[in-house]
Amino acid sequence: AKPVVFIPSKIPEEEKVLRFLEEFAEVDYRDEEEMLDEEVFYEGLQRASGLMIYSRNKIRSHVLDRAPLLKAVCNIAVGYDNLDLNELTRRGIAATNTPDVLTETTADLAFSLVLASGRRLAEADHFVKSGGWNGWLPSLMLGKDVHGATLGIIGYGRIGSAIARRAKGFNMNILYNNLVREERDEQELGIQFVPVEELLQRSDFVLVQVPLTPQTEKMISDKQFGLMKKDAYFINASRGGVVDEAALIRALQEKQIAGAGLDVFEHEPIDKTHPFLSMPNVVTLPHIGSATWQTRAKMAMKAAENMAAILQGRRPVNLVNPNVWTVKDGTVQ
Ligand code: GLV
Ligand code: GLV
Repeated sequence: AKPVVFIPSKIPEEEKVLRFLEEFAEVDYRDEEEMLDEEVFYEGLQRASGLMIYSRNKIRSHVLDRAPLLKAVCNIAVGYDNLDLNELTRRGIAATNTPDVLTETTADLAFSLVLASGRRLAEADHFVKSGGWNGWLPSLMLGKDVHGATLGIIGYGRIGSAIARRAKGFNMNILYNNLVREERDEQELGIQFVPVEELLQRSDFVLVQVPLTPQTEKMISDKQFGLMKKDAYFINASRGGVVDEAALIRALQEKQIAGAGLDVFEHEPIDKTHPFLSMPNVVTLPHIGSATWQTRAKMAMKAAENMAAILQGRRPVNLVNPNVWTVKDGTVQ
């Protein structure tokens, strides 16, 4: 019998992806926007050799206990903090992500948060639609120039670099900090590598674009917000967990910073009493960095290609737990 690939959520352009998967697998596809009930999810998982998921599905040890046949977990996301990689590796299960295809789309969204924060777009839209606009006023919705301002990018991977290219078009002065130097971008874009402290002190917009790992968890906290300029904005479209959200709330309440543009939060969705909901200077988006039709379709196809490789015994292009290959002596049986 063919191995079962379980897809517990709706994916865009599913026909193409399903046809591709059906060449080698039986596909258990649930055309669902909402998360499946836990028991329904576990029923599917019970039979699955492959699992294709978005990052809202958290795959930890107790979940894997319900997946006796599992060989492959293919995330439809670049981030994979939703996966317990040690546990997957220990069990001989290969895991993959979908880098590259979403880089430009996510950079568009992150940069739009710079614009939305500086020029108060969300607040202004709400003002008009709620009927508050009674005439042009000299000081109405005055904001901060984006062009010519200093953008500090903490975490300079593919997405960070794509954001810098957009910022260059706005004639911004770009500072960055990263584990490694990116000399090509330093030359091509004129970006400047500086210590994080200096980046925080000098930037008008501080943007964090790192994966969530034990090393990056809450890396932006009281001390970091304390170093920022009072008229600077904090931007995050990576993972909420890299920021100490309580510290961000304090910094906003105490006016240590001017505002924030956020696509991600410590707990998603944020609850109905969250302090951000009553802060007009905080732009809140519902984790939509990669959310375009074109990119979500490419992500699903890329996840399917990784799935095909693993279930057919080939090393997938986007393997995120490479040790699984040595653990299993070259195969993922
Ligand atoms: C989405 O947040 C992703 O990691 O792709
Ligand atoms: C993701 O693609 C990153 O490297 O930032």
